[in-house]
Amino acid sequence: MNQAQTQPGDCTGQADWQTKALLFDYRQAANPVRRGLTEPIGYHQWSAALHQSGGTAVLPLDLSGELGCNGPATSPALAAHFLRILPGEGLKAAANATSSLFFVLQGKGELRWEGQRLNWGAGDLLVLPAGETPLLQAEQTSVLYWVHDGPLLDFLGVTATSTRFDPTHYPAALLEKELAQLLADPSSARSNRLSLLLANRDLPQSRTVTHTLWAMLGVVPAGVIQPPHRHQSVALDLIIDCDPGCHTLVGTEIDAKGQIVNPQRIEWESGGAFITPPGHWHAHVNTSGRQARLLPIQDSGLHTYLRSLDIRFAGGLQTGD
Ligand SMILES: [Fe+2]
Repeated sequence: MNQAQTQPGDCTGQADWQTKALLFDYRQAANPVRRGLTEPIGYHQWSAALHQSGGTAVLPLDLSGELGCNGPATSPALAAHFLRILPGEGLKAAANATSSLFFVLQGKGELRWEGQRLNWGAGDLLVLPAGETPLLQAEQTSVLYWVHDGPLLDFLGVTATSTRFDPTHYPAALLEKELAQLLADPSSARSNRLSLLLANRDLPQSRTVTHTLWAMLGVVPAGVIQPPHRHQSVALDLIIDCDPGCHTLVGTEIDAKGQIVNPQRIEWESGGAFITPPGHWHAHVNTSGRQARLLPIQDSGLHTYLRSLDIRFAGGLQTGD
């Protein structure tokens, strides 16, 4: 090409790739996460009433309008839903996603996927990789919590085609047995953090439930006030079971004593859900007389791969390895 024959802006005989080019003073664009531009992720919660009546339906916890992305989306990378399925009926959980996670809050039924069948019941958790749209059929009135990473794929402009892990089932009986062992461990008496992290043998490096998703079955014992922690992953928290008197304190700063400054208080409700925004300090509190259970789902698999999780604990974390 003869450079002398072309001038800036002259597209004669060549593609005009300058139309969309834009330049900003660094100070105008260095932090685009602000109101009116890239909206920060706020506090939101959804009541169990959302899934406790009505017909068979996919009930998205959709914040795509305020996030400024295609929906449904609960966070920039993840979409959470309740699935309500009446006895003898079924629904398809359709998404362009690399990872779909289902937790059975109530009921029982059967999953059909890629020519395979799996019976599921209350307390079961299962994950599916990219593939055929799963069909969930209920024997009893059923409610499932469904989280997938479709919003991330939509942002990237890609379609999921390859599977990164095998479909995996964590039956309630297995989870209960492991949780009982954890609670019986002598070291647990001194711990205010009693939780199982669900992992997959296909993903030895991240120790997460899929390569993008992270799932924790957590117990907050009666009378416990957990010290705050924070991470750059978002948490889409499902409260599995609690009595009144449980809540989460959330805020952006901690003081010199490790307490959250001016915290927002999110009251827990069995079967309800809420968001813990990325980077916010949070602490779970149980002032009821009974153990409470929660299931946060996060995009920590992705953050771990990117080395951007940045998890921190006010007061430190005792690790087992
Ligand atoms: Fe957390």
